[in-house]
Amino acid sequence: MLPASVPTAAPTVELSTNGVGPWQGELPEEAFYDPELLEHGDTRNVIDRYRYWSMAAIVADLDEKRHPFHVAIENWQHDMNIGSIVRSANAFGADTVHIIGRKRWNKRGAMVTDRYQHVLHHADVATFVLWAANEGLPIIAIDNVPGSVLIETFAIPERCVLLFGQEGPGLSDEAIAAADAVLEISQFGSTRSINASAAAAVAMHDWVLQHRFK
Ligand SMILES: C[S@@+](CC[C@H](N)C(=O)[O-])C[C@H]1O[C@@H](n2cnc3c(N)ncnc32)[C@H](O)[C@@H]1O
Repeated sequence: MLPASVPTAAPTVELSTNGVGPWQGELPEEAFYDPELLEHGDTRNVIDRYRYWSMAAIVADLDEKRHPFHVAIENWQHDMNIGSIVRSANAFGADTVHIIGRKRWNKRGAMVTDRYQHVLHHADVATFVLWAANEGLPIIAIDNVPGSVLIETFAIPERCVLLFGQEGPGLSDEAIAAADAVLEISQFGSTRSINASAAAAVAMHDWVLQHRFK
């Protein structure tokens, strides 16, 4: 049982506005609880169900129910969107995020969700394509390029990897050529495109609509 009302504990780096203070009453004994958090409070940015749980226990619980879609993004220029794509991937239950190209990426927008999300690096498109083939995962590229199909009309496979490009160049020709399908998100204004992390959130949510609500 969570205490009904507790003071906010001293903030940690994983700061939430909805933290809880030290556990009130008799300490629970279940192994998934973290003794430090029980003693000092839990200010992490986690859903209430995971309050006071150790990080390893949260990851193990998520691993039981991750969705069978993956997310990949090309990273040749240190794209600032990757952090927020990782955050959305965590929120929508993606299996794994794949970074193609540069290994380093800006973690700021991830709001530490990368601690709970599997993230794999592939040095280049060819390595990523080989990995997807070995896993039997179709590559669904998301970009508004000539020949792309409207995502709103497309049945996204349940097991797949959604592949996104970078601000500016978008997806590389090599990535587009390797894709089993290329989907574009309908737009109605004057701008050529939406932000890559916005596109990723839309596409992931489209997967959720197609496979969890139909
Ligand atoms: C800012 S876009 C750049 C390239 C874009 N093709 C253009 O002509 O401006 C960066 C990435 O966001 C995603 N994106 C942005 N708008 C999109 C849309 N309407 N449909 C599908 N993907 C989109 C794609 O993954 C794309 O590679």
